[in-house]
Amino acid sequence: MNATKQLWGSRFSKPLDKKTNDFNSSLSFDYILYKYDIKGSIAHTKMLSEQNIITNDEKEKIVNALNEILSEIDEGKIQFDFEYEDIHTFIEKLLVDKIGDTGKKVHTARSRNDQVALDIRLYLKDEIKNIQKLLIKLIETLISIQEDNLETLMPGYTHLQRAQATTLSHHTGAYVEMFKRDKSRLDDVYSRVNILPLGACALAGTPHNINRYKTAEYLNFGDICLNSADAVSDRDFIIETLSSLSILMTHISRMAEEIIIWSSFEFKFIELDDSYSTGSSIMPQKKNPDIMELLRGKTGRVFGSLINILTVMKGLPLAYNKDMQEDKEPLFDSINTVKNSLSIIPDVIKTMKINKDNMFNALKQGFIDATDVADYLVKKNVSFRDAHNISGNIVSYCIKENKTIQDLKIDEFKSFSPLFEDDIHFAIDFKNSINAKKVIGSPSIEAMKKVIEINKNWLKDNEV
Ligand code: ARG
Repeated sequence: MNATKQLWGSRFSKPLDKKTNDFNSSLSFDYILYKYDIKGSIAHTKMLSEQNIITNDEKEKIVNALNEILSEIDEGKIQFDFEYEDIHTFIEKLLVDKIGDTGKKVHTARSRNDQVALDIRLYLKDEIKNIQKLLIKLIETLISIQEDNLETLMPGYTHLQRAQATTLSHHTGAYVEMFKRDKSRLDDVYSRVNILPLGACALAGTPHNINRYKTAEYLNFGDICLNSADAVSDRDFIIETLSSLSILMTHISRMAEEIIIWSSFEFKFIELDDSYSTGSSIMPQKKNPDIMELLRGKTGRVFGSLINILTVMKGLPLAYNKDMQEDKEPLFDSINTVKNSLSIIPDVIKTMKINKDNMFNALKQGFIDATDVADYLVKKNVSFRDAHNISGNIVSYCIKENKTIQDLKIDEFKSFSPLFEDDIHFAIDFKNSINAKKVIGSPSIEAMKKVIEINKNWLKDNEV
C-alpha cells in the first residue's frame, strides 16, 4: 500500500498493512456516490470563492476539473482504484492529479465526516423520488384494476375463511391506501433528508467564514443542520428511510402472498401471464409464481438492513465513528431491492387473468350471506345480538340439511323468525348485499366510484 494513497499519511511512519487497507476501504461500494461527491464539491467550491476563501480563478480551475472528472467517470474512462480509502479520497486524488496544488484547496472548511453525510443525503434525495415515482405508477395500475372490477364479486376473508361478499375493486383498493401511505411516509422522511450537513467539518465547525445557506441553496436543500456534532453523527434519516421501506415491503409481500394463494389450484382466482411465471425442471405441468415468492422473500433483506443500521448506531458516542461506514451497503441494497420490486409488480398485475367466474362461485359456499340475514333483521328492529343468534341457527340448519342460505324457501326462513318476508331473498343476493353498503369506504359501486375519484385527485396532488 502506497502511503500517498491516503489523505492522512504524513503522521505515520509506515503505510497501512495491505489486508487492513482492504478491510478499511469503502470504495468498492461507496463509488456509486461519485456524482453526489462531485456535485457537493462543486457547490462547496463555489461557496468558498464567494466568501473569498479561495480566488475566483482557483474556483474556475477546481469546478472545471471536477466536471471533467464527472464526465470521464460517466464515460468509463476512469477506473476506480480500490486501494484508495473511499470515494472522497479518490475524487480528491483525481482532482489533484489534474490541477496540482489548487485541487488541494477543495477540502478547505470540510471534512470527510460532513462530506459523507452530504453524499448520502444527496443520493437519498434522488432515490426517494425514484421510489415515489414507482409507487405512483403502481397506484395508477391498481386504480385501473379497480375501475375494471367494480362489479367483480368475490368473497372477502377474515382468518382466511370466507367472511362477507366484496368486490375485487374494493379488495384492490386496500392496497391503494397502503401504497398511498408509503408515498406520504416517504414525503415526511424526505423533509428530514433534505437538510444540509456540510459545514459541520469534523464535528466542531470551522473558523473560516463559510456560508452554509449558500451551499444549501446551490444543492437545493430545504434547510441546514443546526448542530455540527449532530450533522456528522446523525443517521436517523437512513433509519427512517429503511423503516418506511420496510413497511412498504410488507405491503408488497402481503400482495405477493395473496397473488400466490389466488393462483393456487385450490383458489384459481387469477392466472399469472406466462411471461411472469416459471416452470419446474421435473414436473412438466407446473406453473409457479416464483416472481411473487421472490418479492415476498426480498422483504427480509430490507427488514435486515433496518435492524443492521439500528444496531450499528445504538451504542455510538458522538460524533463520527467509523462504524457508520457500515450504513452504506445495507442502504444501497435496500434501495435497489425496493426499486426492482416496485418496477416489476405493475406489469405482473396488469397482465394477470382474473377468473371472475371462480371468484363469484366461491361466494356460494361458506354462508357468506349470514351477516346479511342478521342485518336484515336489524332493519326490522331486532337487536344485532338477537339477529346474530337467529342467523346462526339458520346456518346450523343449513349445514344439517346440506343447503345454502339462498336455497331456503320463505317458510323455512319464517320458522326462525316471523319477521322474514319475501324480500329476504333480495337482501341476501350477493350483488344487492354489496350495493346496500353505500357508506364511503364500503364496496358498493356507488361508494367505490367516490373513493376512486378521491384517489385520482390524490394522484394529481402527488405528482413526483
Ligand atoms: N468512508 C467513510 C464513511 O463512509 C467516510 C468518512 C471517513 N471519515 C473518517 N474520519 N475516517 O463513513
